[in-house]
Amino acid sequence: MILMVGGEKGGVGKTTLATHLAVARKEAGRSVVLVDADSQGTASTWSDARKEHADVPQLPCVTLRGGKVHVELKELARHYDDIVVDTGGADSQEFRSAMLAADTLLMPLRPGSFDFWTLLKMQEVIAMAEGFNDKLQAVVCLSQVPPTASDRARREAMDVLAEMPRFRLLNCMTVFRAAFNHSAGEGLTVGEMPRRDPKACSEIAFLHDELFVGAA
Ligand SMILES: Nc1ncnc2c1ncn2[C@@H]1O[C@H](COP(=O)(O)OP(=O)(O)O)[C@@H](O)[C@H]1O
Ligand SMILES: [Mg+2]
Repeated sequence: MILMVGGEKGGVGKTTLATHLAVARKEAGRSVVLVDADSQGTASTWSDARKEHADVPQLPCVTLRGGKVHVELKELARHYDDIVVDTGGADSQEFRSAMLAADTLLMPLRPGSFDFWTLLKMQEVIAMAEGFNDKLQAVVCLSQVPPTASDRARREAMDVLAEMPRFRLLNCMTVFRAAFNHSAGEGLTVGEMPRRDPKACSEIAFLHDELFVGAA
């Protein structure tokens, strides 16, 4: 499967989810490549940091830039079971071209960022891509949710998305947890940290299953 993570500009958790999902696919026994298609290059930095750790499985990380990302993604798909693409905002060339090859677009959104007009714009971009790629599914995942506000965040998201059938709201969400931040700089996942945060780990497992197993 080609899964791309993108849509919102900065800081929403795109790279965090992309790196965690790539490792989760590897742990599930799949061959996987992580693609850095964001000009910020954070996935590559994460991957470089990971190479310092001899005790974790390594993943190939490929940097792709420009408007022909979809061509290279299709080629990579001949060699790997799964591709996880970290892209930037919806206005980037890489985001738009990755959508031409992706099976799934995962958009992490923070509660309160459910700006109706932004999502409307995003719907238009997705509709355009669907003209070339009819298998594309757009899913939204709440990210960095304040621990005490998860029910309210979910209700608000459901209200806004009810009028936008192109987006499917996932049941899973990630709560704001220090563990995510700590693991990022190490090139690790929350499950690979010496002090595991079991709640963070189960959020990732839930996300993985909902996307790849369809079990949630
Ligand atoms: N659920 C979370 N809880 C706490 N911190 C998080 C969470 N998700 C991401 N972060 C942190 O927020 C920052 C931005 O996340 P990142 O994945 O780099 O976002 P993006 O790729 O969308 O710019 C990073 O420092 C990351 O460690
Ligand atoms: Mg990023």
